[in-house]
Amino acid sequence: MARRTQAKETIITHTHPSFDDQATLWNGPAGRAWVEMQELLDHVFKPFENLLVDAVSCSPATRILDVGCGTGTTTLAIARRSSTKGRCVGVDISEPMLALARERAEREDTPATFIHGDAQTYSFEPMRFDVILSRFGVMFFDDARRAFANLRRAAAGDAELCFIAWRSAAENPFMTTAERAAAPLLPDVPARRPDEPGQFAFADQDRVHALLEDGGWSAINIRPLDVECTLPEKDLVRYLTRLGPVGQVLQKTDEPTRTQIIETVRAAFERYVHGAEVRFTAACWMVHARARPASL
Ligand SMILES: C[S@@+](CC[C@H](N)C(=O)[O-])C[C@H]1O[C@@H](n2cnc3c(N)ncnc32)[C@H](O)[C@@H]1O
Repeated sequence: MARRTQAKETIITHTHPSFDDQATLWNGPAGRAWVEMQELLDHVFKPFENLLVDAVSCSPATRILDVGCGTGTTTLAIARRSSTKGRCVGVDISEPMLALARERAEREDTPATFIHGDAQTYSFEPMRFDVILSRFGVMFFDDARRAFANLRRAAAGDAELCFIAWRSAAENPFMTTAERAAAPLLPDVPARRPDEPGQFAFADQDRVHALLEDGGWSAINIRPLDVECTLPEKDLVRYLTRLGPVGQVLQKTDEPTRTQIIETVRAAFERYVHGAEVRFTAACWMVHARARPASL
């Protein structure tokens, strides 16, 4: 019982403010976790990197914006392909993630640049980009209508928008296994709500369509994308103790509670473990649209 109370206090004190404020979250615990886990996350989400890069038109002259670029993986992947200096730009609100993105670009001498800014409000040069893309970086807006309208202003005539976003939590049970398993021990982990900014905010296809239409985009095409993802089994505990709501709570939890939660949660992942590999299906949307001409 004492353990339960301890966990409850921990959550109330440390978790709720971060969930209310995306900038705090991505400059704090979530951003740190993504920086520390960059190589592992890039491995897990590699299939999406390939799909996104292959999905967009890209010539040396194409000017590209990667929204919510994080540690720069997709920005760098596309910059390697386009190989023209200064034409691939990533934007993100997270300083620590951008610091790693810049370091990676410098280390591998890849021509990508990065902007620290909120994609909803940042004053991009009007009509600057031919392609605007994102891998899991557009679901965290407080005001998604405003964000897509702002991105539309940054888009050249007939520019292409292409992003990948998660479908619902129900269709992605791997992603919520930790919080479901830990719920009896951590009753106050905030429930994920589909109507608020976060991983599953774009689950509703009709809502996404309406947001894009209102934001000035046309030729909207939203199709389901089910992708097999893997991670090494040896990294599973590190993955589940650093990411998501449970990962964040665990950073502040006392050692006995932490040990108990990890044991419980790890057991719940057993059905995804196949020898040395963890496998799960990621249920996502692949979204395409075109900048609507101003006259329409
Ligand atoms: C799930 S991570 C994805 C990172 C990267 N696209 C990738 O696939 O590795 C979401 C990213 O969106 C960024 N983000 C959230 N809200 C944002 C906003 N309003 N403007 C710009 N970036 C934002 C976060 O800082 C974070 O880097």
